[in-house]
Amino acid sequence: MEKTQTLETLLQGSSVPLDRLEHAIQHALEGITDAPGFEAGLMLETVFGVSRTDILLGKTVPLDEKQRAQIAALLGGRKERRPLQYLLGSWEFYGRPFIVGEGVLIPRPDTEILAEQVLEGMKDTPSPRILELCGGSGCLAVTIALERPGTEVWCVEKSPEAFSYLQKNNEALGAGVHTLLGDALDTGCVEGDFDCILSNPPYLSDSDMRELEPELSYEPVMALYGESDGLFFYRELTARWADRLRPGGLLAYEIGMGQHPQVAAMMEAAGLNTICQTRDYGGIIRVLTARKR
Ligand SMILES: C[S@@+](CC[C@H](N)C(=O)[O-])C[C@H]1O[C@@H](n2cnc3c(N)ncnc32)[C@H](O)[C@@H]1O
Repeated sequence: MEKTQTLETLLQGSSVPLDRLEHAIQHALEGITDAPGFEAGLMLETVFGVSRTDILLGKTVPLDEKQRAQIAALLGGRKERRPLQYLLGSWEFYGRPFIVGEGVLIPRPDTEILAEQVLEGMKDTPSPRILELCGGSGCLAVTIALERPGTEVWCVEKSPEAFSYLQKNNEALGAGVHTLLGDALDTGCVEGDFDCILSNPPYLSDSDMRELEPELSYEPVMALYGESDGLFFYRELTARWADRLRPGGLLAYEIGMGQHPQVAAMMEAAGLNTICQTRDYGGIIRVLTARKR
């Protein structure tokens, strides 16, 4: 009660010291998130357009009705366990802001490892032609196109909602990715062969879906569910697309925890070799790559 009053009192003024407001918001978020200080800081940076330094220095900023309403909406949303990323409308991936909202998967830090592995794997290939299957927000395709100018990048996404974010991000960041609204299981959706095919497909199993955190239930099932064993897309994509790699071409996947033995076996069965695995920041094998002979 007292904590709420502190926040309420601060919000009544026509100006507010950012450090005190951050502290009050942090208290309001306790029990809702494991990172209340981090979230409170991001909320203030977004609502007031200030920097982390401004908050740490306790800068006092003017406060109007619109900002009060924004703070109330952010806190209300988090109390309902809506993901902060959707509430803020933008999330950083590989140092760039991506527009996000309900209907598209939020880009994850671990997925940056897949982008890194593709960039590394393509560094000796002149003007590579790259295809991303299951593109979502476009965080991977857009990042690869921007990090490696001169690359021809194609990106396929089936969900019309997610596709609209892919298009917005491609345009806002000027990446020049060729975007396709289509089914990644349909190899007729794009012509020609590729130096690299990559995907972070839906990979949660039935048992994973039963144990979702509240925030994950706001993300599209179509972006999460990989059928009963979680491996549906790896099985289908590997069998259907391996032939579309150029000689020496790279197949690169993000995978779920413990999926590497089965996915590596699928890659081998499709005639690929030189299988490499990369661990994420938590030590879990998160990316698998393989080469066509
Ligand atoms: C795990 S998300 C990955 C999104 C993005 N690449 C990322 O890394 O954040 C999987 C994406 O695959 C899309 N998807 C599911 N089934 C698909 C299909 N058959 N064809 C194309 N995209 C599909 C989902 O809509 C979702 O955007």
